[in-house]
Amino acid sequence: MGGKHFKNDDAFVRTAVRDVKRLERLADLNEGSRLLDWGCGAGRLAVGVREHFASGRIEEYHGVDVQPDLIGWARENLTAPGYRFTCVDVANERYNPAGLPQRTLATDPDSVDVFYAYSVFSHMNDEDTAAYLKLIGQALSAQGKAFVNWGRAICLRAEISQSAEDFEGAYSLFVNASDKFVAAMDSFPGSSAVDEAARLAAAALVGAYYCAGSLGLQDDALELLLEAESVLARRDEQASSIGLEIQEILSSLGR
Ligand SMILES: C[S@@+](CC[C@H](N)C(=O)[O-])C[C@H]1O[C@@H](n2cnc3c(N)ncnc32)[C@H](O)[C@@H]1O
Repeated sequence: MGGKHFKNDDAFVRTAVRDVKRLERLADLNEGSRLLDWGCGAGRLAVGVREHFASGRIEEYHGVDVQPDLIGWARENLTAPGYRFTCVDVANERYNPAGLPQRTLATDPDSVDVFYAYSVFSHMNDEDTAAYLKLIGQALSAQGKAFVNWGRAICLRAEISQSAEDFEGAYSLFVNASDKFVAAMDSFPGSSAVDEAARLAAAALVGAYYCAGSLGLQDDALELLLEAESVLARRDEQASSIGLEIQEILSSLGR
């Protein structure tokens, strides 16, 4: 694993507690919740649950991952009443390329109140992304909520405005991120998460637009902006800050 969350023990625990608080706020996580931490790695979120709640636990924390060494560590160090870990041997191009093609979340339908996948879709191809989004929908209980992120897309945009270096790499990351947000919109029609996905898809497309400009791909750049506009239009989100930014750029281009 990499990234700033894992640079030392303090950061590991701090980011875990931060994410538990986010889940409380955004997904109604509480001591009665059944939580599925999909792609749990070494169980960072389990540490956050243990540290944050007065009882040291919730109804059920279930961590699932494809890496046996990480699940082995979590089982040895974090298993306690209310906590369990499952290793699934399914394929992931980066983390478990020789795994089986069958996709599973290792849970029953309607059995999850809070679904959490932090930096898991960031490392997944589009076909798997669409299929897993559907499985998440089936796993959630009637009031269940999912918190998923697509890693660096938005931070990257800030980084790019500061130091313009790897435009090609950033360009493909942005395009890839926008595809995933659009897949999310298509998988959860009618859900409030779709509005957020629309804004993020548009933000990623605007990020790609800036990179395309720097790479001299003027035609592609304009296409990306128009695509961003139409993604927002699907959700009537034009008035969001990213919608206004898109309109500003288009009018500066005389469109
Ligand atoms: C960047 S790590 C994030 C770990 C953890 N979510 C965290 O924030 O500390 C991504 C994790 O997703 C896991 N993963 C990738 N594909 C998976 C799949 N299909 N099922 C379960 N876990 C998966 C990887 O093994 C890896 O541990």
